[in-house]
Amino acid sequence: MCGIFGCVSKADGAAKIIHESLKRLEYRGYDSVGEATIFDGRIHVKKDQGKIDEVHKVHNLDDLPGSVGIGHTRWATHGAPSRVNAHPHLDCEDKIAVVHNGIIENFSELKAELEGLGHIFKSKTDTEVIPHLIEENIKRGSSFIEAVREALKRLEGSYAVAIITSLEPDKIVCARKESPLILGVGEKALYCASDIPAFLPLTNKAVILEEGDVAILQHDRYEIRRLEDWKQIAREIQVIAWTPEMAEKQGYPHFMLKEIHEQPLSLRNALRPQELYMDLMATFLDRAKNVFLVACGTSYHACLAASYMFSKLAYLPTYPIIASEFAEHVGMAVNIDSTILAVSQSGETADTLAAVEHARNRAATVLGLTNVVGSTLTRVSRVYVLQQSGPEIGVAATKTFTAQLLVLAQLALRVAKLRGKVSHQEVKAIEKKLKEIPDVVERTIKVNEEKIRQIVRKYKDSRFFVFLGRGISTATSLEGRLKLMEIAYVPAFAFPAGESKHGPISLIEPSVTVIFICPRDRTRKTIIGNIMEMKARGASIISVIEEGDEEIKQLSDDYLEVLGEVPEVLSPIAFVVPLQLFAYYMAVEKGYNPDMPRNLAKSVTVK
Ligand code: AGP
Repeated sequence: MCGIFGCVSKADGAAKIIHESLKRLEYRGYDSVGEATIFDGRIHVKKDQGKIDEVHKVHNLDDLPGSVGIGHTRWATHGAPSRVNAHPHLDCEDKIAVVHNGIIENFSELKAELEGLGHIFKSKTDTEVIPHLIEENIKRGSSFIEAVREALKRLEGSYAVAIITSLEPDKIVCARKESPLILGVGEKALYCASDIPAFLPLTNKAVILEEGDVAILQHDRYEIRRLEDWKQIAREIQVIAWTPEMAEKQGYPHFMLKEIHEQPLSLRNALRPQELYMDLMATFLDRAKNVFLVACGTSYHACLAASYMFSKLAYLPTYPIIASEFAEHVGMAVNIDSTILAVSQSGETADTLAAVEHARNRAATVLGLTNVVGSTLTRVSRVYVLQQSGPEIGVAATKTFTAQLLVLAQLALRVAKLRGKVSHQEVKAIEKKLKEIPDVVERTIKVNEEKIRQIVRKYKDSRFFVFLGRGISTATSLEGRLKLMEIAYVPAFAFPAGESKHGPISLIEPSVTVIFICPRDRTRKTIIGNIMEMKARGASIISVIEEGDEEIKQLSDDYLEVLGEVPEVLSPIAFVVPLQLFAYYMAVEKGYNPDMPRNLAKSVTVK
């Protein structure tokens, strides 16, 4: 997720407006930043790797002439953070500049075609194909706007783009496909931005562009057309009632709630193809004598769930190990025949990197799954894949957890295919379910959110909570417990439900609330036995069930339903969502700030 911004102002000083607006989009990405303006018949560019303030200190982003310009704050998806990969990207003759948020999925073939026509590329990004495509179209006789339209029609994937050219210096052309883009209609200027906060202090009049819209902004007017048939359309101007601070959270009270609600989108992004890298990783996993899944915290819970996925889909045994225990627990067992799959949202967690270092020193193969391109984990991994979740501002991991699970499920399916462990029909069935998961999560949030706000008030005085699941739901219960502990500071336990009778059940009494994770999988029958055990000892029972599971509803004091049939190996993705909301609303009910839980950091870069 990156932030783009464009400004067509009646007076000079576009660069300063762009710089200040990018600062308000920094939550969307911050590994590099750049601006381009038009003045005196040419394009002026300043860009570099680094946070906005760092780059401004070195380059003075305000010091660019002109009244028309665009800017970008980056969250790398293709090409590590660097000056050359920072946006804007230009054509061969520096006459066209583009900023882009999204992923161009067919950029490799477009790049090869353009290189074959003599275009010289400077960066490793997918975005850079756009200015060169426009340049090629202009060379073939199209006007600038026609050339943009023809280029956009060739792009597959997602984009929100803003484009300027020294050939027609009075305008910006911007367009959207799957990535958000909003116009700001000011008295003195027109704006286009990835999100409302960018221009809210300048104007509260917004026009939300829709799928396939192209907008042409000029000094005193704008028009919106449909890319498909180029028909001009009118879009309503909305007056935004948010404060700038609220706008950054898109109206949500906290980033954590915004990110919980973002999961349908982040899950769709997690499904975007990473063919080459996934195939390579599947080969390394298949060939290894032993496979260790290494991570901390929530990412460890993703590894635990993944160990069930690899086993059930690919018949591949894998060993999830908490990173801080790796050297002590399996350090001597790791060797040249081992493969380590390290999972880390930040790619910078010290314990995880230490485990990776230990494994590398013993000649093991290291694979990575992370959310941050250019992070240390991407540099020390032989091969890595990305969660494609965009920045997660809330300290508690939510959308990054479910994205990790979805990427790991795709990887497990790929290993299963490689090992010939699944039939063609089974592959098609699971791939269909993978695609349905974002909608299941969307429905589950919608149906449960209000109910959870009520339930939290009913149980907020429980002495402590126990989260129980069996099979892959053990990972879900551990994650639900962690969420409740880390943001609501509520004492909670989680262990495989089968372990209850080996000791923990002695804890159970009427002041305790037990939360059961009960998908309709092979563990459901035995989980019902566990529910009876806990009920018999007076505990309150909350069950997370598949829609319509009447039998468990009857046994529970309260229940939360997952809306849709989810295969066992994918169940944590959907079943964790009610637990995320439960933890969030419990924190709010107790008066805490879920975005900044005490004693915690977003990335634990110390051991
Ligand atoms: C999760 O809510 C916590 N913020 C924490 O457990 C986190 O998952 C852990 O520190 C690992 O972080 P990483 O994924 O960036 O390596």
